[in-house]
Amino acid sequence: MPLDCIVKHNAFSNDQINYLDNCIQNICTVWDYVSDGKLYSKNHAWDFHSDEAKSIRDILEPHVPKNIKVNHSKILESLYPYELHTDVYAGGDDSSSDVQYTFIIPLDDYDSNTFVFNEYSYGSSNEFEDFKKQYTGDLKLKISREDALRLTHLHPKDVLHLSLKEKFTWKKGSLFAFDRNCFHCSDNYLRTGHTNKRAIILWTVKC
Ligand SMILES: [Fe+2]
Repeated sequence: MPLDCIVKHNAFSNDQINYLDNCIQNICTVWDYVSDGKLYSKNHAWDFHSDEAKSIRDILEPHVPKNIKVNHSKILESLYPYELHTDVYAGGDDSSSDVQYTFIIPLDDYDSNTFVFNEYSYGSSNEFEDFKKQYTGDLKLKISREDALRLTHLHPKDVLHLSLKEKFTWKKGSLFAFDRNCFHCSDNYLRTGHTNKRAIILWTVKC
């Protein structure tokens, strides 16, 4: 069974968030995530365990549960809302059986949500297309119409496979963690007037 989500409001002060943002910018390397010719995001990755990242670690690590370690860390600068996926293979060299939480720590306030669903994929694939092929449940709307209207970047039929586990609103200083095996996506924040959104993202595995 997937892990329960963790939601913490006011986990960090404004000063802490601004400090983290500045420090990470000084030590990160930037790479673009492009899929089907579309630039989805710029990723500002840093080595979480390096000596130069100690002051960053001192702020973030108290929020990471015991027996779990961070194996990938970055600031996500999202430029186009992510569609349905899991984070199973996102961390590089970790095996799927060891993956734990994805953490999201927004760097500003946004009228935007991350949707996490009860449906999950263990092991074989993080592609929603593969999940759909094996799906035997009802094909009907199981989330609210209001929520469905925030997911207009998804194929409408895909939404019929999903039930809501948690909806997290991006607020500066808050923290959200969810099981990397669960399907999740952004809402279509372009429709609420945002052109991008930024957050610290941590992927974790068992120690
Ligand atoms: Fe993700």
